[in-house]
Amino acid sequence: MPMMLRYMVAAFIMLVAAIFAISPFASTFVRQWSRRDVELRSVLVFNSVRNELANLLAVGATAQIDDLFGRLALDERLLAVGLCDREGSLRNRSKLMPADFSCEKVARTASASFSAIVSDERRLVAGSFPISTDRASGHLVLLHDLTFAEQRSSQVRTWITIALAAVALIGAALASIFALLIVRRWLQSIRQAIEDVKAGRNGGFSRDQDLVFGRHIRDVLQELRETTRSIDATRADWGPDALRLVLAGQLSDAEIIVVSNREPYIHNRATDGITLQIPASGLVAAIEPIMRACGGLWVAHGSGSADRDVVDARDCIRVPPAFPAYTLRRVWLSEQEEDRYYFGFANEALWPLCHIVFVRPSFRESDWDEYRDVNARFAAAVVQEAKRPDPIVLVQDYHFALVPRMVREQLPEATIITFWHIPWPNAETFGICPWKEEIIAGLLGSSVLGFHTQFHCNNFLDTVDRFVESRIDRELASVTVSGHETFVRPYPISIEWPPAAMAGQKSVAACRAAVRAGLGLSDSVRVAVGIERFDYTKGILDRLRAVDMFLSSYPEWIGRFVLFQAAAPTRTKLAAYRNLQNEAECLAREINVRYGREGYSPIFLVVRHFEPEEVFELFRAADVCIVSSLHDGMNLVAKEFVAARDDEQGVLILSDFAGASRELSEALIVNPYDLHSVSEAIGQALSMSGAEQRDRMRLMRHVVRSRNVYRWAGQMLLDAAQLRKRQKIVAMASREPKRVLIRGRFAKLRQVR
Ligand code: G6P
Repeated sequence: MPMMLRYMVAAFIMLVAAIFAISPFASTFVRQWSRRDVELRSVLVFNSVRNELANLLAVGATAQIDDLFGRLALDERLLAVGLCDREGSLRNRSKLMPADFSCEKVARTASASFSAIVSDERRLVAGSFPISTDRASGHLVLLHDLTFAEQRSSQVRTWITIALAAVALIGAALASIFALLIVRRWLQSIRQAIEDVKAGRNGGFSRDQDLVFGRHIRDVLQELRETTRSIDATRADWGPDALRLVLAGQLSDAEIIVVSNREPYIHNRATDGITLQIPASGLVAAIEPIMRACGGLWVAHGSGSADRDVVDARDCIRVPPAFPAYTLRRVWLSEQEEDRYYFGFANEALWPLCHIVFVRPSFRESDWDEYRDVNARFAAAVVQEAKRPDPIVLVQDYHFALVPRMVREQLPEATIITFWHIPWPNAETFGICPWKEEIIAGLLGSSVLGFHTQFHCNNFLDTVDRFVESRIDRELASVTVSGHETFVRPYPISIEWPPAAMAGQKSVAACRAAVRAGLGLSDSVRVAVGIERFDYTKGILDRLRAVDMFLSSYPEWIGRFVLFQAAAPTRTKLAAYRNLQNEAECLAREINVRYGREGYSPIFLVVRHFEPEEVFELFRAADVCIVSSLHDGMNLVAKEFVAARDDEQGVLILSDFAGASRELSEALIVNPYDLHSVSEAIGQALSMSGAEQRDRMRLMRHVVRSRNVYRWAGQMLLDAAQLRKRQKIVAMASREPKRVLIRGRFAKLRQVR
């Protein structure tokens, strides 16, 4: 029942109760008042006729007494007058004396008395007054009819009811008008507060709102305000437009600068001119669509042989070349810088340190020094390119652990969001790094530091706890060092949806036919694919060994199953990578010798760069995709395979040690170190019914579609927006401390500035 109606019903019940409570009291009062009235009149009448009656009685003048009684009875309230003698007989009476009246009915005492009697069904009051002379004595009886009192009391009841109803109605009308005014003001304030939350106007509550709201509502709104970020972040329809909307709505005046080692477009010299390459990099796959949607500036290492030939005087080029959407600013590195900073410290120290695959990291002081210097050069490029004092700087990956602090020192108002694209190991493992404190301090220059999973966030917080003097707030997941607070958050990275490489893809049947024809395979041969950089973290050797075990355990598949392994050469300057490639090629040859025969080799190991369109064609042609990373931050290959399968067929075998396994739980999850489990998973995948494949693929596609890369970036940008608004409030509060209300987390920010 609506509140207003409830109040009206309650008021009506109270009104009826009041009428019922007051009415009997009023009737009694009126009756007593009327009776007292007639008693007084009786006394008056008696007093006025006492002497005359005594005289008439003394002389026995009966006729005159009747006459006197006749005159007295003319009084409208007096019904009848009579005289009872000493014996109790009615000696004289006026005309209207009831026929059934007898002197027995009245008290005949020595003094005046009154009694209520019923006669002829009327309620009467009889006043009895003693009168005596020498000759005779008796009682004068004056009969009053009290029927008028009943009428009077019912009239009073009616008037009381009318008066109460009128008072109640007027009161209710006044109360309603008053309540309506209050509710209108209240609603206006709530509407205003909700609008503030929607628009991200993050202030405290105004004095007015504080007065009007109850504590509960204020808390709810505060909560709403706090959860705006997560509400937005969980929108299922994240795409380029939604991301642009977030930027336009929340960060309309923001300047976005990305800094990464790998550039999104590499220009290389070839015999027939300059070719354009999109590198095989999870980082590039994720950031590029974001920059296409949002625009801005991307600072990266110009690594292509023709990169210098195509840039302007500021080392910039607008990309993508076909439809420019953002600016790529290239930073040049000497061979020594690249060797020590990139191959040395980034890929021989940090990469094996963070990926626990039992490859020993190499820590060389010369590499570290170069790493620091190159970080300083990229930080300087960011500062040089920034047009405002408060850009949003998106620092990418393990190549630039020191950049956040370096930028912070020069642009203290910048919002720096750093994303670590690889795993963060446990504190004990990270502890072997000789420069662990510097690396952590560098990262803590960030406003927000992101990892793929909560697990990696926890590892980072534990590492900070172990090695750096700091204040860690586990509830807020933040670290404060020297007054600067860094929030540590999980942002599971993903791919664009739909992937650009899906545009123009042939049907699955056509892809199957084309790939099988290219490999010289009949349509009945089942194909598994593995596609990645030739990196020891990807578990390529283990995958080949698992295929070996599968074919030896299930020889009926010999001749009917192949693994197509596409491996893009990567970091080939490093011995670990060259050794891996040699070992993998030997192993593939061995397996092919063991199970191959005329026209059949179970392993196709193709070592070259694959363009995204080729990758997607392979995914669409495959029956199974094997991702057997020994350790991986996320692994976008797994998500790309799912995105490629709009026919909802195909089975994903996925390593438990890739971050993607947290989201794609409908894959066949395996331990890549356990060859038997991978071999069995291959068998299970090949015999899985179409219906089961569809059920699993449908669920995984839903996850990849809704948790796409726009959501990943959107979450980070929303966090940046939230942080900037808070900082503005904090700045305002420190200028005008009395006028701005700072609560909760805002208050905390004020303390740490
Ligand atoms: C991983 C790293 C990226 C890197 C990519 C390719 O995904 O997280 O930062 O770009 O590998 O490696 P590369 O050394 O060729 O850039």
